[in-house]
Amino acid sequence: MRTPSSLCLIAFILFAGAVIASTRATQTPKQSAAASTTPNQTRLKRGKYLTEEVARCTECHTPRDARGNLDNSRALQGAPVWIVPVHPDQNWAQQAPALAGFAAYTDKDGEKILEKGQGPNGEIIRPPMHIYHLNHQDAMDIIAYLRSVPTTTH
Ligand code: HEC
Repeated sequence: MRTPSSLCLIAFILFAGAVIASTRATQTPKQSAAASTTPNQTRLKRGKYLTEEVARCTECHTPRDARGNLDNSRALQGAPVWIVPVHPDQNWAQQAPALAGFAAYTDKDGEKILEKGQGPNGEIIRPPMHIYHLNHQDAMDIIAYLRSVPTTTH
């Protein structure tokens, strides 16, 4: 037998259902706006983040001004190595090459360098460049970002 309180409960459930349905309807445009960010832009953003904030490629591959600060007007244009080892190391490199545009390297070169720590001909990368063992997607995101960096500055 239906009591007034069970009718009340049914009414409440129907009302709650309507509220949930209307909330979903209003969320749909937001979700599709997020989906319109192309995967490419997402990858480039992540590549920039990995390059600048995680692997910090810029620390060595961007030149510095007279006060030792990174000169971002020449981002990733290549730079003389600014750090020296505590113990002399014959193998220590003097120059970090330009990475902007990444035109000197194929994707395969980039993968080898960033995933295995080996140069394009299989040689071990010299210090102070790190021997990175990045995962494939991270390496690809960095490479995509480096290809998007302008090679000339004004
Ligand atoms: C601590 C300094 C330092 C950091 C950080 C650094 N590099 Fe390097 N990188 C160098 C130096 C120095 C060389 C030259 C090494 C050599 O001559 O073997 C080099 C070489 C390279 C090369 C050329 C390798 C070859 O054999 O031709 C590439 C490409 C490169 N770095 C990319 C990167 C990327 C991408 C990052 C960030 C993920 C990065 N580097 C971070 C210092 C650094």
